[in-house]
Amino acid sequence: MAKPKLVVTRRWPQEVEERLQALFDVQLNPSDTPLTVADLQEALRSADALLPTVSDRISAEVLSAEPLRSRILGNFGVGFNHIDIDAAKARGLVVTNTPEVLTDCTADLAMTLLFMTARRAGEGERHLRGHAWTGWRPTHMVATKVAGKTLGLIGFGRIARAVAARAHHGFGMRILYQDPYPPPKEVADAVAARQCATIEEVLEQSDFVSLHCPGGKETRHLMNAERLKRMKPSAILINSARGDVVDEQALVAALKSGTITAAGLDVYENEPRVTDELLGMENVVLLPHLGSATRETRVAMGMRVLENVEAFFAGRPPRDRVA
Ligand code: DGY
Repeated sequence: MAKPKLVVTRRWPQEVEERLQALFDVQLNPSDTPLTVADLQEALRSADALLPTVSDRISAEVLSAEPLRSRILGNFGVGFNHIDIDAAKARGLVVTNTPEVLTDCTADLAMTLLFMTARRAGEGERHLRGHAWTGWRPTHMVATKVAGKTLGLIGFGRIARAVAARAHHGFGMRILYQDPYPPPKEVADAVAARQCATIEEVLEQSDFVSLHCPGGKETRHLMNAERLKRMKPSAILINSARGDVVDEQALVAALKSGTITAAGLDVYENEPRVTDELLGMENVVLLPHLGSATRETRVAMGMRVLENVEAFFAGRPPRDRVA
């Protein structure tokens, strides 16, 4: 029997690409250039599976490709708000993602942003590299202590809980959260986390607010001007979830006016574009969507896609089906 044909939209870790090549008829993307709408549609017409990433917008337009040969979208990543799930379902496509394998590294990255912003690490490095450092002094680049402070989590899924574990057990932080689907009591108790009735309550009481909700229609601009105003003026916002959860213009205004003290961002509203004003601000730390970017995790993510696609073509239910 002919091997199923797969189109991989970006370069993946070498060992995963080799494994894919051993099992399937694979079209890789050695140049790693993003596929256009026409390329994605051609992939849906010519392959049994399309394996996209967050940088591919799998819109209703893309999914309107005719005749449709693909039967599964094996997403490389846990978030899938770049895929129009309703349109995928309407076309009878199965969609899978890669949960769990990136939890630790994404939580580490959220903590990296938290520390970098609290301790002004980006600013300090620029200061030193710019030859501005004149030596140690008691009042130089004084920042914010982390230990013992309150961390508010918006969303309390796997990554948020991993952040809570690091923050609570590692740094004695008090954990508050708000999630419309709270976990069993013992999960929250393990990190002494308290569920707040509203997002506003989390914002008002937290020294650091870290976002961990999915992107998409329901959460777009969840952090808007009004909500930013509910944060303490001394507070710091961390976003390692999805860029559209924060109104980037409102955030710029809040950072400029001192509504909040600082922000640490790994994700942006219009990636890879970043609002120009953020680039010039000292009180922001900006990373290029690196949450899951460790060798170990990227290999595990690729292997998880492979496992899902292999199961699908063997007639078994894929482990990580989201549609
Ligand atoms: C994820 O897995 O959702 C990462 O943000 C990359 O897509």
